[in-house]
Amino acid sequence: MSQTIAATAATERAPLTFTVTPSTHARSAAEREAILADPGFGKNFTDHMVTIDWTLDEGWHDARVTAYGPLMLDPASSVLHYAQEIFEGLKAYRHADGSIWTFRPEKNAERMQRSARRLALPELPARDFIESIKQIVAVDGDWVPSAPETSLYLRPFMIANETFLGVRAAHKVGYYVIASPAGAYFHGGVAPVKIWLAADYSRAGRGGTGAAKCGGNYAASLLPQMEANENGCAQVLFLDGETGTRIDELGGMNVFFVHGTDTLVTPRLTGSILEGVTRDSIMQLARDRGMTVEEREVTLDEWRDGVASGAITEVFACGTAAVVTPIAQLKGKDLEIGDADAPAGEITMAIRQELTDIQYGRRPDRHGWLTRLDAPESRA
Ligand code: COI
Repeated sequence: MSQTIAATAATERAPLTFTVTPSTHARSAAEREAILADPGFGKNFTDHMVTIDWTLDEGWHDARVTAYGPLMLDPASSVLHYAQEIFEGLKAYRHADGSIWTFRPEKNAERMQRSARRLALPELPARDFIESIKQIVAVDGDWVPSAPETSLYLRPFMIANETFLGVRAAHKVGYYVIASPAGAYFHGGVAPVKIWLAADYSRAGRGGTGAAKCGGNYAASLLPQMEANENGCAQVLFLDGETGTRIDELGGMNVFFVHGTDTLVTPRLTGSILEGVTRDSIMQLARDRGMTVEEREVTLDEWRDGVASGAITEVFACGTAAVVTPIAQLKGKDLEIGDADAPAGEITMAIRQELTDIQYGRRPDRHGWLTRLDAPESRA
């Protein structure tokens, strides 16, 4: 394993160059427009995909853009047996002048490198990660929708595709990027959601993979997510695996609490919480508004007591897919915190508005968070 990582951590080699083979069966403009009119989330995909191969001997090579299509995987591919897989999620936004931008892609590149280290996968240099995003938008830019609150969701992922059943870090890996036009993640748009407390399950434990964006974490959330849905809730909340008293995160999102009107609190990064790019950006925007931001331990008791006393005024979830989604109520067996019919909080919606205004180019990008994806000079 150490040999694999040593051979692939940030290297001196030149940036990858991509070959482009256009699809021979791309959808017509009319077919594409019909999909973009009601994109939903994660159910339609563009005409192309990016692939980059990696082997222990050659490192990263053969970067290419080809028609979107099924992967050919040997049934003994290690990812199918030992889940050596990581992924990322970021979005391409169309601005009013037609240009296409993405948000803090270097943060996703760095997080993917951290996830890779944890899952004993090779690190893709950040410049190649960002170029892979530019490449897919260069061929499939027409798939970036322009209606309010829509975007092209970009899903880079990496899998161990060596044909080998021994349990060790794979010597053969594939990196891919697929793209999917997206509307709101939750059915019902940005309306406040109910959240289910997964009292019997943990998402991550000490020393585990909680901070990595790996498929296994999400697989483990699916059974409690079913329980959440059966109880009329949109997402599941996990407590820490050790004491079962502290708030960790939702199945696929971080969580924030507004105290009064001037303090924003979120669980600190413990190693079992995903370091969300949206989480980080919201903390910055809150500081810019003069709010006090606290990253610290938050217990379930504090949530219950804070809502009861009025100290906690708003709760919301955030992530690339969910953006900022108000949480009306936490439910569990014998537990209800908050009012299921509560309207979206004012501070929640103001932060959401500011974040999306920056992402969609409606207000100045004062932190330099945007990267243009479609400009000719960005292809250098
Ligand atoms: C994201 O917000 O991008 C996520 O990865 C959450 C979920 C769609 C898996």
